[in-house]
Order: sequence, then structure tokens, then C-alpha cells
Amino acid sequence: MNSSISPDNLGASVTRDLANKLVPLFEEASAGAIAVDAEARITWINQSYMDVLGIRRLPDVLGRPIKEVIPTSRLQEVVRSGRPILLDIMELRGMHLVVTRLPIRDEQGRVTGGIAFVLYDDLQPLTPLVAKYRKLQRELDHARRALARRSTRYDMSDFVGLSPATLEVKRRARLAANRNTPVLLLGETGTGKEVLAQAIHASSARADQPFIAVNLAAIPENLLEAEFFGVAPGAYTGADKRTREGKFQLAHGGTLFLDEVGDMPLPMQAKLLRALQEKEVEPLGSNQPLKVDVRLIAATSRDLEGMIAEGAFRSDLYYRLNVLQLRVPPLRERLSDLGVLCEAILKHLAAENDLYAEITPEAVELLSGYDWPGNVRELRNVLEQALTLNEHVSVLGTRELEPLLPGERLALHAGDTPPGPVRRLADVVAEAEREAIRSALRANEGNKAAAARSLGISRSVLYEKLGKLSGNQDA
Ligand SMILES: Nc1ncnc2c1ncn2[C@@H]1O[C@H](COP(=O)(O)OP(=O)(O)O)[C@@H](O)[C@H]1O
Ligand SMILES: [Mg+2]
Repeated sequence: MNSSISPDNLGASVTRDLANKLVPLFEEASAGAIAVDAEARITWINQSYMDVLGIRRLPDVLGRPIKEVIPTSRLQEVVRSGRPILLDIMELRGMHLVVTRLPIRDEQGRVTGGIAFVLYDDLQPLTPLVAKYRKLQRELDHARRALARRSTRYDMSDFVGLSPATLEVKRRARLAANRNTPVLLLGETGTGKEVLAQAIHASSARADQPFIAVNLAAIPENLLEAEFFGVAPGAYTGADKRTREGKFQLAHGGTLFLDEVGDMPLPMQAKLLRALQEKEVEPLGSNQPLKVDVRLIAATSRDLEGMIAEGAFRSDLYYRLNVLQLRVPPLRERLSDLGVLCEAILKHLAAENDLYAEITPEAVELLSGYDWPGNVRELRNVLEQALTLNEHVSVLGTRELEPLLPGERLALHAGDTPPGPVRRLADVVAEAEREAIRSALRANEGNKAAAARSLGISRSVLYEKLGKLSGNQDA
């Protein structure tokens, strides 16, 4: 009965010796082996495969079409085409068999049958591979979806708060979402301007289209034009052979978010204004203007009207951007939101770090004694620090939070602190200055330009003061 896979049948391409050695080797190492003739009828099956299939007696299956015994087998295909199926996963009665199938040829190369080996009788040995494949597949799906939508992370529900000031800004944001006009978001750093910009896009008619953000404070001046309008192929020596799309082209049909628009240099302001008026852009090195359709949302923490008066911002651009203005209130004007804000932020941080966290009402009370120059971003940083420094605490109380709040600012509100020893005015002022600079830097995550802005001083004055401070500390 074993005769049908005698080496003679294995054919021209494989030498007799090799076949003699290989078949038993495979048979032994595999979880089963079966052979068929040219009509795909079973001519041989080994004991281990019989065990896998639950076949008790050999005569029950010999001579029967393989499809009757193993409905999912593809040996028939192999016999018909003469081509092997080197690796396949075959489902059989809830099992996943990893199989390889080869045709058998005679000396003249004619297909006389086929043989199959079950390499593994479940996917277990392949599990790491399969898991990795599934993970990659998931990531790919996610990336594809995100790319298709250039999706936003936030929607209106992410702008948390129930204070009158918050409800009003959300009401205006919803109004803005229903219209196609430019929106100007004004507010201090960390108040949630970017959250609102995304939320407006996400609830607008353009929600399925791209949301593209450009941070004017983060891009060097000489790269701005290419960043906005793109670059034509071969526009300059070393330029890419392909067209590089600008933010305008990427945002086509959707929303373009100009973050820190007050940091836009004057020459770029002129170019942006022209693009907005013409509704078209010209990639660098091309003289073919492209039509673009974008909805603009701009944001800044700067005083644009003051900048206009100083000649640092173009009034004509300002009027284009300032069609619908939303003032995003600083946190100190909506301290009654602190409780829900803390809850929302802690929930988010906890989920990110796989833990559980909440906050006591007393701690919220403590936080509302502080004036939050860095707004929600600073609040988030404080809560994150509290969680990091108190690894084993899941309910944050005043004990965890008090050390993280700058003392002087709290004292201003508390009013009932006992009088300390009288100190030299210069020392007190220097200390207050040091503290203000430190909290501005912390609120702005170490960004010196932004810190200077929120302190109302120029960048160079801040550098000067930082230099002095470090000098003083050394002394
Ligand atoms: N109303 C809010 N509700 C929840 N989180 C907020 C809110 N406002 C701001 N945040 C959070 O504070 C941080 C700063 O927000 P962002 O939009 O970048 O501020 P801005 O652009 O005004 O500087 C982000 O982590 C954001 O998720
Ligand atoms: Mg921002």
C-alpha cells in the first residue's frame, strides 16, 4: 500500500536517493502525511494523520476521493495544476492545520499524484508570528483610517467644563462649526485653543475631510513658504524629484489650522493674504497656481490689535481672519470647572498609564486657590507630576498636591498666613521674579519664547534675567 509513493514515482526533478531520504524524514517530523493518485483518490495515509482525522481502519479511506474524507483539502488542485502549494493553513473541524502539498511526477514529468504533509496540527508554533501579523495589520488599518481622514483627536465633548464662561465659548464654537467662515481663537497659552479648533472641525460639514495644523512658532522663517504652498519638482538644486505638497494642498476640502498666527513674519503674512484672496497657491518653483478650498481657523495668545498698532501684524490679514472671534477664557476665570477638569484629565492620564486615579474635594478646593498662569496645560502637568511622584496613591489629596503649587501665588489668595520675618525688599522682589519665571517656564513646558510672552517681557529680557538668576545662585 505504501507503493504509490515509491521513489520511482517522485519523478525526474528529484533524484531517487534524495526522495528516499526526504519522504520518511518529512513524514516523521510532520503531524501527518497523505498521498493521492492522479484522480485525487487516497492511495496512502500514515498513522499519525489517521489519528488526527479519527480514522480507525485504513480500508475505510483507501481509494476514496480525498474531498470526501478531507473536504478542505486542496490536493486535487495540486494534481490538476502540477504546481505545489508550499504553505497553507487548512481549516478542518475547528483545527487549523499548517500544510504543504507537492505534486508527484513520473520519469517523463507527468503528474501521477500528490502528497501532503501536515507541518503543524495547530497554529501554536506560529503564534508569535500570527500575533505580530495581526498587530501590524491593526496598526496599518488605523494609520490608513487616520490618513484618509487626517483625523482630529478632539471633539466638542473634550472641551470640558460647565461654568458659564465655558458653556458660552462652546455655544459659539458650535455656531462657528455650522458656518464656513474663518474663526479666530484668542486666549492665553494652555487654554484649549487647539482642542477647540479640532472640535469645531469635527462638528463641521468638513469633518470627513482633512484637518491640517501648522504651528507658526515652530517653523523656521525660511521654510514657511514651502511648508504652506509646497515645492514643485526640481524647484531648486537638491529639491525632491516629486512634488511636495504644502499644507494648503493637504488641507484641500478640509480645515487649515494656523496655530500661533501672531508669530507669522510680515513677508509670509503678505503671501498668505494673497493666497486667501485668490483662493489659490503657487508651489515654490512652479508658475502654475492651484485652486484650493480650505476653511481657516487661526489661534494666538498674542495681542493682535496691539501688534497691528506696532506694525508687526497686517491689519488686512487680521480682518480676513477675524470674521468670527472666540475668546477662550483663562482657567482663573472659570475655576468652578476645576473639579470636572481634574476628573477628565485624571481619567485620561490613568488610562494612558494603566492605573486608577481620582482627586479629593479638598484638593480641588486647594487648586482653586491658585491662579493658573499656564491654564489647563499647567493643571495637567501638575496632576501628572502628582501621579508620578506618588506612585502608590490612587486618590490625590492636598498632601500630594500642595508641594507642587508655587507658594507665593497661593499665599496671595490665602491671606491668613502668619507674617514672616521682614526681609530686604530687593530680595523679596528677586525671589518673586524667580518664582514667576519658574512657573512661566513650567506652564510653557520650558518653551522660553512662550514663557516670555506670558510674562509680558521680550525673549531677550527673559534670557538676561535667566542669566542673572543663575549667576546669583552660583554666588
Ligand atoms: N477645556 C478643556 N478640557 C479638557 N482639556 C483641556 C481643555 N482645555 C485644554 N485642555 C488640555 O490642555 C492642554 C493644552 O490645550 P491646547 O489646546 O494645546 O491649548 P492652547 O492651544 O490654547 O495652548 C491639552 O493637553 C488639552 O488636552
Ligand atoms: Mg496651542
